[in-house]
Amino acid sequence: MDKFIINGGKKLNGSICVPKAKNSYLAILAGCVLSSGIVTLHKCPNFVDVNKMLEILEILGCRIERQDDNVIIDCRFIHNYKVPNELAKQIRSSIFLLGPILARLRKAVVCYPGGCDIGARPIDLHLKGLKSLNVEIIEKFGIIQCDAKEIKGNDIHLDYPSVGATENIMMASVLAKGTTRIFNCAKEPEIVDLQNFINKMGGKIYGAGSDIITIEGVEKLSSVEYTPMPDRIIAGTYLLGVATCGGDVLVKNVEFEHIFSLITKLRDSGFEVIKKDDSIRLISNKRPKSFGKIETMPYPGFPTDMQPQALVLQTVSEGVCVVVENLFETRLKHVPELVKMGANITLKDRMAIVSGVEKLYGAEVCCTDLRAGSALTIAGMVAQGQTILTNVHNIDRGYDHLENAFNLLGADIKRV
Ligand code: EPZ
Repeated sequence: MDKFIINGGKKLNGSICVPKAKNSYLAILAGCVLSSGIVTLHKCPNFVDVNKMLEILEILGCRIERQDDNVIIDCRFIHNYKVPNELAKQIRSSIFLLGPILARLRKAVVCYPGGCDIGARPIDLHLKGLKSLNVEIIEKFGIIQCDAKEIKGNDIHLDYPSVGATENIMMASVLAKGTTRIFNCAKEPEIVDLQNFINKMGGKIYGAGSDIITIEGVEKLSSVEYTPMPDRIIAGTYLLGVATCGGDVLVKNVEFEHIFSLITKLRDSGFEVIKKDDSIRLISNKRPKSFGKIETMPYPGFPTDMQPQALVLQTVSEGVCVVVENLFETRLKHVPELVKMGANITLKDRMAIVSGVEKLYGAEVCCTDLRAGSALTIAGMVAQGQTILTNVHNIDRGYDHLENAFNLLGADIKRV
């Protein structure tokens, strides 16, 4: 059951609700380790990476209970500071556990993390930041061993506004002695969500969403109930699906500001995009015009996690679009797969020049990573004929049966 058979050419109509955010849930689940109480998180999404993170928390000593779509995490008895290798190397977010485990237990052992194969994905900024907080780190045979007699607050400047490094250092500082300031930190909405979650437990973090985050160390964190933010990348995936295939769809449970970069591109290229409370309606009833240029940047720039899906729209849009992937070295693996479907794309390093064609044609293509998989699903939906997409387990890392969501709107996708 690791393939999609997609019969293309169907328009998308109706309404669909966006689940809670994978990249917020993953950071918040790591943040649970900081709590000496019981954490209740609402509307926990059924994503493979989230389920793997919950497995790791259980091995660290958390007691996990599901109540409908809520997850209750009893963090009172956390005692294990070693993250199991076989799970840690499957997901990127395992590295985010370093900070909270150190803050709670003063020791932490994690192997090099996994995650989508979209580039080198170094962790130097994570480790440099932790060392600035008086953490001793030994890296040997791919294992990172950390010791911190006492975590001391400090001023830290990040060479690059790394999301994970910002989250890791934030969480390492929450129970530290003194104050930490992170300069040139990431400004993604998931960072703001993590700040709000930790502050609701009694933390003292200020400035998330700006260039400098301040964390005042506190003694301990309490129990909390929290509902993370909606998944801005899934919202964008749905909107790009209907923009590409045509139709009229209402996407519900969206933070408009979180995807304003995409909304602007869609409106500038002629789509009707209507904001209604926490929903966005997109009407696509004529051949789209090219975006002209897509340049991925840290938030609030155009998100790299939406680049593959937006690139598919460009393959059938009128005109030429220059797509530049600035964050990850090899996040254009979907391009050769799209060329098999008749797309006209010239690839040079991190740049793809996309000349829109009238039609894509069904072919057998491979899902190389999570977002490339969602992009190729959209390509199969717009293509004439049948597409076979293999390795769809990659899509399940960050979507709960993406095929069901699009079929609800009129697509014809079977998982076999
Ligand atoms: C997070 O990954 C997300 N993952 C990614 O989403 C997302 O693409 C990325 O942020 C950028 O927004 C999760 O939150 C679980 P980074 P992360 O550290 O933290 C360089 C998805 O599809 N860098 O901001 O790994 C790095 O090489 C996934 O949902 C260093 O140089 O991203 C890259 O060029 C994919 N040294 C850039 O920063 C470091 O120590 C951005 O990486 C860390 C990062």
